[in-house]
Amino acid sequence: MKLKSSSSITLLLFISLIFFLPSVSSQACKKTCGNQPIQYPFGSGPGCGDPRFQKYVTCNQEKLTLTTHTGSYPVDTIDYNNQALYIQDPSMSTCSATQPSKGFGLDWNAPFTFLDDNVFALLDCSTSSSPLYKSKNHSNGTNVLLCENEGAPVCSLLYSCSPISTLNLPISTCCVYTPVDLGPAFEMDLQKLQCNSYAAIYSFNGQESNPASWEYGVALKYKFSVKNDYPIDCNVCERSNGACGYTGAYNAFVCNCVNGVNTTTDCYFTASWNNSLKLLPWQIGTWLIYWAWFLVWIFF
Ligand SMILES: *[C@@H]1O[C@H](CO)[C@@H](O)[C@H](O)[C@H]1NC(C)=O
Ligand SMILES: *[C@@H]1O[C@H](CO)[C@@H](O)[C@H](O)[C@H]1NC(C)=O
Ligand SMILES: *[C@@H]1O[C@H](CO)[C@@H](O)[C@H](O)[C@H]1NC(C)=O
Repeated sequence: MKLKSSSSITLLLFISLIFFLPSVSSQACKKTCGNQPIQYPFGSGPGCGDPRFQKYVTCNQEKLTLTTHTGSYPVDTIDYNNQALYIQDPSMSTCSATQPSKGFGLDWNAPFTFLDDNVFALLDCSTSSSPLYKSKNHSNGTNVLLCENEGAPVCSLLYSCSPISTLNLPISTCCVYTPVDLGPAFEMDLQKLQCNSYAAIYSFNGQESNPASWEYGVALKYKFSVKNDYPIDCNVCERSNGACGYTGAYNAFVCNCVNGVNTTTDCYFTASWNNSLKLLPWQIGTWLIYWAWFLVWIFF
């Protein structure tokens, strides 16, 4: 056996190390969309999050969006602790702008419902032809109008906002609607209700008398299981810095790790092991050639 200079051995080891470096691919399921954190049941794209939610909420160009049959709506925030989703409707009116709208609806089979805090003020409704102004018989025999909001503070306050006041509409054309009245279809079809626009308020911000400071938007409650118990698999996956996803015909759970590796459990193992040993086929080939060369060179 010939003696080799230690420097060329070092060089050889260095070269083989370069080809040994992990091929780091990126995580398919992102944990943020823009500046919003994404967690179960939501996902950044197909195969991510919970399959029942994927078709409704996606990350498009760093913007989280809810899509229903009535349109696409930017998601303001997700309150993961209270399972609530706050969205904007670009066609909605607020204290600072009025515009016509066709309304808002949820898909009947979507895992969302309206949050009870929502107040919908239907604006510029036809008092003569809107079904809102038809009387409804109570079980005790008295007749009440479906929309009896002439005295509702929300209507008079909204009608004091300058863009709405310039429309010069009588207060009787405003109707406050609560989600319970929307029925199981979760549909607020303004054309059917004969109203021209609407404002949705999800919080009065502690200033009930100041419509300029209210939070406008639609608040939705989401449900991924009967008690909204976090799936154990997913909890462990997220704690190991992974993102929950699904794969295959049966939507089997996958944990998508930061280095792009998918596991059926968590990312603790892949983080320490796969990260340094995951080799592409060409890397393994090069690595074997180098080592064969190295052994030949040492022993002959
Ligand atoms: C891992 O899972 C995600 C989500 O299902 C998928 O988009 C991605 O292609 C998978 N990656 C690999 C390497 O299988
Ligand atoms: C409501 O009650 C009134 C009088 O009792 C009756 O004339 C009317 O037809 C009822 N309307 C409906 C929708 O049942
Ligand atoms: C009938 O019921 C409605 C709603 O439950 C109530 O507002 C109204 O005061 C009742 N009228 C009478 C006469 O009891």
